[in-house]
Amino acid sequence: MQYQTRKADVTIPSTATGADLCAALQVAFNEPTTIFKCLVKGKKLVNEELLETAGVKDGAKVMAIGTPSAVAASTAVKKADPLVKGFEKEDEDLAKQKRATEQALASPWGTEQNAEYRFARFGSLKRFEGQIPHPFAAKQLLTILATDPGVIAVMVARSLVVGLLEEMDPDDRYAAIQAKERGGCLLGYNQNAGQTIYLRLRQDSGAFRPYEELIDTLLHELTHNLVGPHDINFWRNFSRLKSLYLNAHLGRRISTSRALPDYERAKDVKDCERLVVEKLQYEAQSNGALTPDERSAVAQAARETSLLMQTISATKPVVAQTTPARSGDEKAELRAKMAEAAAKRLKPPS
Ligand code: NI
Repeated sequence: MQYQTRKADVTIPSTATGADLCAALQVAFNEPTTIFKCLVKGKKLVNEELLETAGVKDGAKVMAIGTPSAVAASTAVKKADPLVKGFEKEDEDLAKQKRATEQALASPWGTEQNAEYRFARFGSLKRFEGQIPHPFAAKQLLTILATDPGVIAVMVARSLVVGLLEEMDPDDRYAAIQAKERGGCLLGYNQNAGQTIYLRLRQDSGAFRPYEELIDTLLHELTHNLVGPHDINFWRNFSRLKSLYLNAHLGRRISTSRALPDYERAKDVKDCERLVVEKLQYEAQSNGALTPDERSAVAQAARETSLLMQTISATKPVVAQTTPARSGDEKAELRAKMAEAAAKRLKPPS
């Protein structure tokens, strides 16, 4: 490390962040109040960036720029107040949280997005800082959705590209207008056929919505990359995307030690189709946000899908993969789940 005319060797793990390195410099150069910035090959090292992703390798020469902190005096005053959490402590907590989240950012699925058909960027909401889940966790969740093997399969199969996948602000003006007009809660929307997809990640309690629901919303919004209005063509495409999603997870070997989200699983091909039909029937019966025409379009798509399923099972009996019918308990559970969603007046996304 070089700072002004001085040099120092700094040893730090490659999984540390830019902020960690800057903090280490305060020790290395014995400048505890100086705020450091680091330059790697002429580029400013971003605080949140991991050293390994920034290309900082063993033996790398890094230039440091320091600002002797005039802020330090006022920080000291604040710290004297026992009621105010010290700035330093706050920064430290934040850095810790960031590190933990960034390490988790590598997908638990053990997958990466396709190089071409992908979500280019992810966005979270700054205003949720200081709340749980933190915006970092929101960004992490968006990454998990984007690297879900089912979503990757959908993106590749339909050549989809999304510029930005962002957490939707529940107080968003557009969402508020939609909610007022349709009397429900908007769960997501797609701006300019894939420029930006907004997803409502949080429930009213503040906790994240169930993963399965988020995937359904994402699949709905991805369908809008292909079709604008909620017509028969839209629902045909939606059912195709949903069955692609479910099929991609069939027989997939899970070779990760990390905790996976609670994603929707089908037992076999037949079961995939059944889940698609059930979803469409649910939309047709319970989605109050849809017009009567839109509802009959969903119902028609549901009939087509079940017809397709019957044709498949009639012409090609699946001997090795017979599925036990859903047990009574499961059916009751599903009905309860649907009734609960309807009671909450949760309107599926538009
Ligand atoms: Ni829609």
